[in-house]
Parts: sequence; C-alpha cells; structure tokens
Amino acid sequence: MKVTVVGAGNVGATVANVLAHKDIVNEVVLLDIKGDFAKGKALDSWQQAPIDYYSTTLTGTDDYKKSANSDIVVITAGIPRKPGMSRDDLISTNAKIVVSVTKSIMKHSKNPIFIIVSNPLDVMSYACFKASGLPSSRVFGMAGILDTARYRAFLATALKVSPKDIQAVLMGGHGDTMVPLPRYTTVAGIPVTEMIDKKKLNAIVERTKKGGGELVKLMGTSAWYAPGAAAAQMVESIVKNENRIFPCCVHLSGQYGIRNMYLGVPVQLGKDGITKIIKLDLNKSETKLLQKSADAVKGVITTFKKMKLV
Ligand code: NAI
Ligand code: 2OP
Repeated sequence: MKVTVVGAGNVGATVANVLAHKDIVNEVVLLDIKGDFAKGKALDSWQQAPIDYYSTTLTGTDDYKKSANSDIVVITAGIPRKPGMSRDDLISTNAKIVVSVTKSIMKHSKNPIFIIVSNPLDVMSYACFKASGLPSSRVFGMAGILDTARYRAFLATALKVSPKDIQAVLMGGHGDTMVPLPRYTTVAGIPVTEMIDKKKLNAIVERTKKGGGELVKLMGTSAWYAPGAAAAQMVESIVKNENRIFPCCVHLSGQYGIRNMYLGVPVQLGKDGITKIIKLDLNKSETKLLQKSADAVKGVITTFKKMKLV
C-alpha cells in the first residue's frame, strides 16, 4: 500500500508521521511545492523509525511522478487561516491549489482514494470530486472525526471521565454551523443527558462549533495534531478494510433531503472508500440545523462554481 500526502506543512507532516507510527502501509510519499521542505520532513520522520520501531518508508518530493500508483492520497495543500479569518475566506487560494493537485495526482495514479483536508473542507472535497472524475465513494473529506473529537474531549474534561468512553455523532459542514448531536452522544453507553445538565452541555456544543477558531486564536494558525491523527485514522480504516463508522464529508445525492454537494454525515469506511452512508432518524430541530449548515456550504459552492476551475 502506498499513500501520498500532498502538503508537508503542519497537518500533512503530522498525517505522514502518525501513519508511519501505525506501521500499516509500505510507503508514504510527502509531496510539497517546497520540495526540500518535504524531503526534510520525510527524512526526519524516517529517522524516527529505528527509535519508534516502524518499517513504513517515508520520502519527500516536489515531483508528482513519485506519487505514481498511490492507493490513497491525502490532500492538505493550501493555506491555513489566520486569526480573524473564517475557513471560507481561504477559497480563492485553496480552490486553485486543490484542483491543480488533484489533476496532477490523476496523471500518475489510475484509481486512488482521495481524503481531503484543505479548507474550506466541504467545498474542497466537492472540488476534488469534480476535478478527479472519480466515483464519489473514492473522494471524501476529513472534518467530522476532528470536530467530534473536540466535542468528546470537552465532555471528557467536564465529566472527569476518559475520552475513550465518550461516543458521539456530529454532522453538517466544517464551519460554525456544524451540528453536534447530544441525542446521539453517550458516556460508556449512558445517554450524555443523564450525566450533565443542559446548560453545561449547550455550552460544550457551542464551544465545539468554534473549536477550530479557538485554536487559531491561541496559536496564530490552525491545529495539526488532532487533524493529522484524524486523517490517519481514516486511512487506517481503508487500509485494514475495517468498515469503521465515522462522520466524514461525503457526496450526498438525496440523503437527508440534500443533493449535489458534500457535507458531513456518518458513513462506513472500507477498502473501496465509502461503503455506506448511514441514515439517522433526525428529529425536526436536528433536521433544521443540518439544513441550515447545508445552506451555508451551498453559498461557498456557488463561489467555487463562479471560479470556473472545473
Ligand atoms: P501549512 O501552511 O502548515 O501547510 C500547507 C502546505 O501546503 C505548505 O507546506 C505549502 O507549501 C503546501 N502547498 C501549498 N500549495 C501547494 C501545492 N500547489 N502543491 C503542494 N503543496 C502545496 O498549513 P496546515 O496547517 O498544514 O493546513 C493545511 C490545510 O488544512 C489548510 O487549508 C487548513 O485550513 C486545513 N485544515 C483542515 C482541517 C480539517 O479539519 N479539515 C484541520 C486543520 C487544517
Ligand atoms: C480546524 O478546525 C482550521 O479546519 C481547521 O482546526
């Protein structure tokens, strides 16, 4: 198995490093327009192998030929947001990057699976789908695992329990309209509403929605450890054909009454990519929130379409 990670910055280098530690693929290629930078990051990670005991080889490059015959490609290329910016502010720069990266990859790999990380995530996933010509089951984005992890981590802190015991579902776009779902949140199987009062839970839901921005404010750039680990977890489910259920940003064609766009919903991830889109029985207010989130993403898709890149 060969994985190419495009963009060797904070998130891309983390994806490569976490994947190497999992030791589940033969080869990771780290590709960046700053070629020596990718070479340096890959060499540093490879020199960690004798210490941490993994055999996955890591190489860095700026040459798409080196990505040839990739099974999975993770796109993290693009600019991250700075304090005061929304993810949507990145579209004019990142759309061009994601479309050109997708086309360059497709010249050298026939049938890869793409995992998109670049923001604005829902629209960049749509852009990669259009530019690649691949079936939608092979093109999807990472956001839901990260956003749900933030929600789970906040709950773990508030409840003083292990984050391992918190399971949750979160849907919608990767923006402030995302929809954490308390009705589908449990603590070791116990409904979360039996463990925490409504006011505290609402505050955690609101903090989750702005979780990315909180980190941008603290660091001056966006997060990378949790995002990198989340993308690597998606790769793992594909490589091991685990069919794990994760919230991912996928192409919807009528599910939840939404079509012709990418949005976060729970899916199963196996060797061929998305093997199933899971349909939850949302109540009226949850459906309304999801629709509101879809409308926000649709606005950014319109901007993307006006750019006429695909
Ligand atoms: P970064 O600035 O550390 O790294 C981005 C890398 O992309 C740079 O090394 C740059 O040289 C490279 N790059 C730019 N254009 C390229 C091209 N045409 N071909 C190849 N490489 C190219 O940024 P960071 O923090 O790694 O974030 C990357 C992207 O991921 C941003 O758009 C950010 O908003 C997004 N992100 C998304 C998350 C999600 O949940 N989906 C979470 C965290 C970040
Ligand atoms: C995050 O949520 C910026 O999308 C990135 O951390």
